[in-house]
Order: sequence, then structure tokens, then C-alpha cells
Amino acid sequence: MQPITQFYLLAGYFWLAVLCGTAKCTLAPSDHPHKWEKLYLVLEWPVTICKMSDNDCSDPLMYWTIHGLWPDKADECNRTWHFNISEIKDILGDMEQYWPDVIHPNRTVFWRHEWEKHGTCAATLEALNSQKKYFSKALELYKEIDLNSYLTKLGIKPGRTYQMAAIREALESIYQVTPKIQCLPPDEGQLQVIGQIKFCLSKEFALINCTQSKSGSSSAHENNLFRTEDLSKCSDTLTEYPAHMHTWKHFLANTVDI
Ligand SMILES: *[C@@H]1O[C@H](CO)[C@@H](O)[C@H](O)[C@H]1NC(C)=O
Ligand SMILES: *[C@@H]1O[C@H](CO)[C@@H](O)[C@H](O)[C@H]1NC(C)=O
Ligand SMILES: *[C@@H]1O[C@H](CO)[C@@H](O)[C@H](O)[C@H]1NC(C)=O
Ligand SMILES: *[C@@H]1O[C@H](CO)[C@@H](O)[C@H](O)[C@H]1NC(C)=O
Repeated sequence: MQPITQFYLLAGYFWLAVLCGTAKCTLAPSDHPHKWEKLYLVLEWPVTICKMSDNDCSDPLMYWTIHGLWPDKADECNRTWHFNISEIKDILGDMEQYWPDVIHPNRTVFWRHEWEKHGTCAATLEALNSQKKYFSKALELYKEIDLNSYLTKLGIKPGRTYQMAAIREALESIYQVTPKIQCLPPDEGQLQVIGQIKFCLSKEFALINCTQSKSGSSSAHENNLFRTEDLSKCSDTLTEYPAHMHTWKHFLANTVDI
């Protein structure tokens, strides 16, 4: 090997080491500042999201709703591409129904957050390169995955408890892939509570297995509007799939006086 080549190789490893020593280990970051590999279609269980919120949501929706469609490793890719609700005026009915902000009355804030944080990164795909396409595609995937119907068909119903393994196996039997399931960790003497399911998708929108990501960046990715950063990987134990707020101890405690 020529000494000069060796020098460049060494120099290359040196810079790689420097880059890998910082928070994100990426090759050629300047070429691909917002490179991502797969998408998460994130669905949430409104009853759990409401429990986690300080806001008063007394009558949460009883079906899984969309939280977002997120590229795995990119955030806020174009800060000048602002959310414009007029662009999605044709799909507002479906947005209200399937992608509601289950806590805050003004949904615009949530949709804007999702577009500006995740949509502007997803938009590197031609199939997602406008607000209309991005939100429509998420709705389309949500309908295809059809989680609510499948869970019902398999007899997995809110208001009951399940072993996490049973829920995971049911999902694998339906979709032939392993999604990520997230729970609210148990309060003292209580069960963990299912809160969110992330389906992994290729850039061609095919369901793929969710493998563990190497960097621990998944919680940094969570949406602070919903405090879903408090959700974590479910343990393989008995799990509550809650139906109503009144199943909660704190809620019962509050109603004793009334
Ligand atoms: C960012 O978005 C603006 C507005 O849509 C667009 O004009 C611009 O080309 C985008 N920049 C990049 C780097 O994609
Ligand atoms: C928002 O979108 C509408 C419809 O596409 C367009 O007419 C309007 O100019 C946009 N507003 C802004 C501020 O870009
Ligand atoms: C919702 O929030 C947006 C952005 O802050 C604001 O422009 C809009 O007027 C709000 N809508 C309502 C009904 O309060
Ligand atoms: C996902 O993993 C399971 C079990 O390893 C495997 O049987 C299945 O074919 C995988 N599915 C895809 C789409 O890769």
C-alpha cells in the first residue's frame, strides 16, 4: 500500500472516530444532513394519552388514532416550509376523525408540529413531497393497517388485561412483522398500560420488522405535545388496555368527594 493512501485512510478513520464520538455517528454528514431509512406509522390509544396529560379529557376516543408518520432519523428538515391548513382542506374530515389531537382542542397546532418536524423530512420521497400527499398517505396507511378492526376480530378489547406476549403475537399473526409496542410504565401496585404502536415501513411503504435502533434516539424523537416521551418499551407482563378514564385510581380518588 502506498504511504500516501495509508495516510488518507488513517485520516479518514480519525475523522470517523471524531464523528462517532459525538452524539450521532454518521458518515459524510454534510452530504446527507437529513438522511433517513425507514418510516414509523405511529398509532396511539387515546385513553392512555389522556391519562398522561394534565388536560382534562373526560371522554377520550375509543379507537386507535394516528400520532404521526415519522422518518426514523431526521427532524425539522426544512424550517421555511410552513404548515398551511388550506393545503389539506380536502381531507379535513378524515384528519379530524383519524388524526385528532386527543388532548388539545386546537388541532392545527398538532398537525403543524407533525408537518414541520416530520413531514418536511418525509418530503424527500416524491410520494410525500407536499402537505396534501404526506397527510393523505398517512391516512391511507392507517386505513390499510386497519388496526382497530383486526384487534376486535382477534378478541383484543379495551377494558381488559392481556399478557404483552399475547398482544405482540396477535399483531405478528396479522401483519407478519413485529411492530414496536410502547407502554406507560406501571404506577405502584398497578399494571403497565398500552399506549402506542409503531409500525415500521420501508420507503416503498411496505411493512417491515422493527429492529432495535442502535442509537438511543427514539425517546428524543417523541412528541412533547403529548408527553409520549414517558412511554417506553413494554415489559413482558400483564398489561392494561384501558377503556375509560374511570378505571383509573386517581380519577376514582377525585370523584369520591362529588
Ligand atoms: C424548503 O421549502 C421551501 C418552501 O416550500 C422550498 O422552496 C425549498 O426549496 C425547500 N428547501 C429544501 C432544501 O428542500
Ligand atoms: C396556503 O395554501 C393555499 C392553497 O394551496 C394557497 O392559496 C395559499 O397561498 C397558501 N398560503 C401561504 C401563506 O402559503
Ligand atoms: C389554532 O391555532 C392556530 C395556530 O396557532 C391559529 O392560527 C388558529 O386561529 C387557532 N384556531 C382556533 C380555532 O383557535
Ligand atoms: C419479520 O420477521 C419474521 C420473524 O423473524 C419473519 O418471519 C418475517 O418474514 C419478517 N417479515 C418481513 C417482512 O421481513
